[in-house]
Parts: sequence; C-alpha cells; structure tokens
Amino acid sequence: MTVASAPGKIILLGEHGVVYGEPCLSVAIDVRVGIEMENGEEFTVNGRKMDSRRHTYIKHTVEKLWKGEPLEITTFSKIPSASGLGSSAAVTVATVACLLKMNDTFTLEETAKKSFEIEYEVQGGGSPNDTSACTYGSAILLSNEEKDGFVWKISQQEKNWFVYPIDIPDIKLVIGMTGIKSKTKKQVEKVRKFVKYSSFARELTEEMGSLVLEGERALKKRDFTRLGEIMNEDQKILHTLGASSLELEKLISSALKAGAYGAKLTGAGGGGSMIALTDEHEKTAMAIEKAGGRAMVVSISHEGVKVWD
Ligand code: MEV
Repeated sequence: MTVASAPGKIILLGEHGVVYGEPCLSVAIDVRVGIEMENGEEFTVNGRKMDSRRHTYIKHTVEKLWKGEPLEITTFSKIPSASGLGSSAAVTVATVACLLKMNDTFTLEETAKKSFEIEYEVQGGGSPNDTSACTYGSAILLSNEEKDGFVWKISQQEKNWFVYPIDIPDIKLVIGMTGIKSKTKKQVEKVRKFVKYSSFARELTEEMGSLVLEGERALKKRDFTRLGEIMNEDQKILHTLGASSLELEKLISSALKAGAYGAKLTGAGGGGSMIALTDEHEKTAMAIEKAGGRAMVVSISHEGVKVWD
C-alpha cells in the first residue's frame, strides 16, 4: 500500500495576477488530504468505479502516470471542496506523489511539475501556484524573475514562473467560508476576458504584482500592520477585476470591523473563502460567523506533500 498526504493552501496576495506571470505569495495550511492506493480488481475510488466526472483530477492523473495493475484508491479530506483552499490541488499533488513513488520516480520537483501539468490540462489554464504550495508546504513566492534559490521553474505560453520557498513566521490566519462554491475555471475565464480587452485591467494586475513584493517584505519584517493594509489594497483590485462577491465582501468587512489588520478573498473568488490577518482569532472568527460565514482558524503547515509505502 502507498499513502500520501498533502496540505491545503491559502493565497496571501496575488491570485489572478499570477495567471499573467505576476508574483504571488501563498502558504500551506494545516488542513490536509490523504490518498491510499493498493492493487485491486478494477480502478475504484472510495469503493466506486473511478469516473471522470466524480474523480476528475484523480482519473486524469492515473491515466497520465500509471501503466500498471488496477488500483483501489481511498481518499480522506479535511479541506472543503471548491472553497478556494486548494482541495483539488492537494488531491492532485497527493495522487501524483503516490504514483511517482510507485514508479520509483518520486521527487518534490517532479511532483510539482506533473501536478501543474494535470491542473493545467483539467482547468484549461492557470498557474503553478496552488500545486507548488501544496507540494512544498510552508510559504512560497512565485515570481517571473530569476534569482538564486528557486526550487523549480516552468515556462508556459511566454510566461516564466520561478518558485521560491520563503521564511514565514508562525502566524495563524482566520478563514471565513461563504459556503458558495468557487469555480476556478469560470473565475479565471471571467478575469481573463477583462484583462485581454482592457489595458486598465492589465495595469491592475501589474499593480497587484508590486503589492505582492511589498507584502513579502512586510511579512519578513513581521510588519503585520503594513501587510494588512496591502491585503486590503489587493482586495480592492480583486473586486475591481470582478473576482469578489457580495458574500465575500460581507465576511471581509465583518473581519475588518472586528479589528483585523487586513482581509481579502483567497483563491479564485466568486464564492469560496476569505482570509483575515489578526491577533484576535476568536473575536474575528465569531464576527465572521455572525455575518453568515463558517470560520476556521488555521496555522501554517511546514510540511508539504509526504509519501510512504
Ligand atoms: C486559484 O487558487 C488561484 C488563481 O490565481 C488561479 C491560478 O493561479 O491558477 C485564481
């Protein structure tokens, strides 16, 4: 039997902009998925025949990476699906890690590379951000600039992404879930149309990129006041790009009223989740719940994907 587990992720700054090659700052969170695989009579997932609608990412991964006997696959997940918290990226990363291990070719870089290919094929676009965060754990910065210290890089359609691990203090964040599904493919398409036809929208993604780099400096200095302000500015841009929603705005303003340094949507938006940076986790979580969201306090997961057999 081979077993893998991978963390979910939240994007602190830079979602959507990263699709166009702008920087993005993400952290892995201590909410994980697990995958178990063993030989069986036919390909199944949680006791049901594997099918491309219900098990889209797993089936695509198996078809791409596995030439052996049928597999019985079992999944465990603490990450709510379509919540903007990286559930599909984590499932993909854990599935890839299991199959690479069974093929004797497991490395973190190969896991990140294959997982991005799979997400890109299934979603018809996107960046390597989510799959890299779930692979490496802790915090990562994606940048189009080549410097020392990147763990892997990829070029796609004239864009370059270099993935850098970054030091992160042991912070906790409050997540507020709207309960409305966030559909990454649809959201990325919506923003893409705007960016394609409007130079104003393109400028906003560039401004977002500068905010991410300033946010990374604030995080390194543990300047949470400035980081919170930057999160709020990033949220304004995401709102203008059409990535937010009424429900998200309501949870964001409840967290700010409760005294958070900053709050913004995380992931593709439209529904899904928001995050708040605060010292007062319980007070902020209660304010989010009062505003109709489901709150969760999370820590950074310093462990990325893990695989055993
Ligand atoms: C989704 O979690 C993040 C987006 O930037 C899409 C992507 O990077 O692939 C919206």
